[in-house]
Amino acid sequence: MASPLLHLDGVTKSFGKVTVARELTLSVQPGEALGIVGPNGAGKSSLFAMISGDLRPDSGAVWFEGREVTAVPPHARTRAGIGRTYQVPRPFEHLTVFENVLVGAHQGAGLKGRQAWTHSMDVLDGTGLADLANTPAGRLTLLQRKRLEVARAIGTAPRLLLLDEVAGGLTEPEVVELVEVVKRLHTEGLGIVWIEHVVHALVKTVGRMVCLAGGDVVADGEPMAVLADPKVRELYLGGGPETGLTDEEGS
Ligand SMILES: Nc1ncnc2c1ncn2[C@@H]1O[C@H](COP(=O)(O)OP(=O)(O)O)[C@@H](O)[C@H]1O
Ligand SMILES: [Mg+2]
Repeated sequence: MASPLLHLDGVTKSFGKVTVARELTLSVQPGEALGIVGPNGAGKSSLFAMISGDLRPDSGAVWFEGREVTAVPPHARTRAGIGRTYQVPRPFEHLTVFENVLVGAHQGAGLKGRQAWTHSMDVLDGTGLADLANTPAGRLTLLQRKRLEVARAIGTAPRLLLLDEVAGGLTEPEVVELVEVVKRLHTEGLGIVWIEHVVHALVKTVGRMVCLAGGDVVADGEPMAVLADPKVRELYLGGGPETGLTDEEGS
């Protein structure tokens, strides 16, 4: 059998008394789109940090395309094909939108010269940022910064894209646009893991959902089944996550 795109093998991580991952084992197949939900503090962003190399697990291993990367530094993981966004956008403030994406194309995708330039413009077109290409990132609104965060990650030409709450704070039409962008990337064959509180965006995009809480996988399966799981609903104060779904969409 082919290697999974991503495989976490018994990953454990604690900050003092807070355990953010407890013997976590989870695989993502090539081209799969996985959604991750869970209450604040569940360990979702920490999980991304361990996949991208920003955080070293206390024990367990991280594998990417059949190769162990647990000790591989972040920049080398980006070059290997793991692209991520940060929950709090972190662009290079003094560089333009175009230059921010170009850095990813150079450093992450390893593209040079005209190729890097063309690729970056394509990414800006695909993420609706072309008109802001020459604007310094420091002048963007929060929503534009979130969009740039996605563009920067795509600019690294990843085979695994990690999205951390990129829909939070967007208006509904903006969420719809974002869903279209992510769906298109998925159609192009990218593996996607998307952490998101805007659950209806996830449901429209992913084929599988995992709920994390207290460092454990609480539920894993078909998105609507996970959202209907009593253990998941209980985590959201008995009401279930804000799916924003109409009865029609939800049925
Ligand atoms: N670098 C860190 N040092 C100490 N505690 C941290 C660190 N990163 C995260 N935490 C703690 O770990 C828990 C999980 O955080 P996080 O992974 O950001 O959760 P989520 O993204 O699910 O909201 C929180 O209690 C948070 O305060
Ligand atoms: Mg988080």
